[in-house]
Amino acid sequence: METEPLFPPRPTALVQDILRSVIRPGALVIDATAGNGHDTIFLADCVGPSGRVLAFDIQEAALASARTRVSEMEWVEFHHQSHTEMHLHATPESAALVMFNLGYLPGENHNLTTQSASTLAALKIATTLLMPGGILSVICYPGHPAGATEAVDVEAWMSSLGEEGWRTTKYGAIGTRRPAPILLLAAKAPANRRPTATTP
Ligand SMILES: C[S@@+](CC[C@H](N)C(=O)[O-])C[C@H]1O[C@@H](n2cnc3c(N)ncnc32)[C@H](O)[C@@H]1O
Repeated sequence: METEPLFPPRPTALVQDILRSVIRPGALVIDATAGNGHDTIFLADCVGPSGRVLAFDIQEAALASARTRVSEMEWVEFHHQSHTEMHLHATPESAALVMFNLGYLPGENHNLTTQSASTLAALKIATTLLMPGGILSVICYPGHPAGATEAVDVEAWMSSLGEEGWRTTKYGAIGTRRPAPILLLAAKAPANRRPTATTP
């Protein structure tokens, strides 16, 4: 039996709907939290064999699962490393997208969750790797304790990007019993729209 797509869509589906028409074949994109590889394979389809996907995770179990999902897509590179090391694999201003789906691997050890301090460090690195007009996408899970702190920190930091000429947006369900996951999107200012020291 076919199931109706959930409406309004969850952030994990919404972000793919939004990015599908924006990410071009041939682009370099980064999956900062590969997990089971659902986003990795989506990104690999978007950029195609002429593109490149870098995927990071600190858990070998996650990478094994993600590798199975994208088998034979040779333009995907997996790295068993924290996303704070992503700058070792891409040059500044080369990426069209850096995608984070924070939290823990469903069904696995909930202690192996993303942490506010390293997430913020990786997000700052991501801003240097994105090309002008490039996109930063982050899904936060404020419904669990570590995720609640992280969501507040990430949202505050992403809001501050607006002062540097980025366009920033937040999507999420309202009226839920527990805080619902939120999707934060930011687009880096094109080179001709960045504030300079002389901008009032
Ligand atoms: C919600 S899951 C990601 C789901 C994934 N995007 C998918 O489509 O299946 C979050 C993942 O982040 C990983 N993670 C936690 N800390 C990390 C870090 N510092 N660097 C990279 N990955 C990390 C976890 O191991 C977990 O697999």
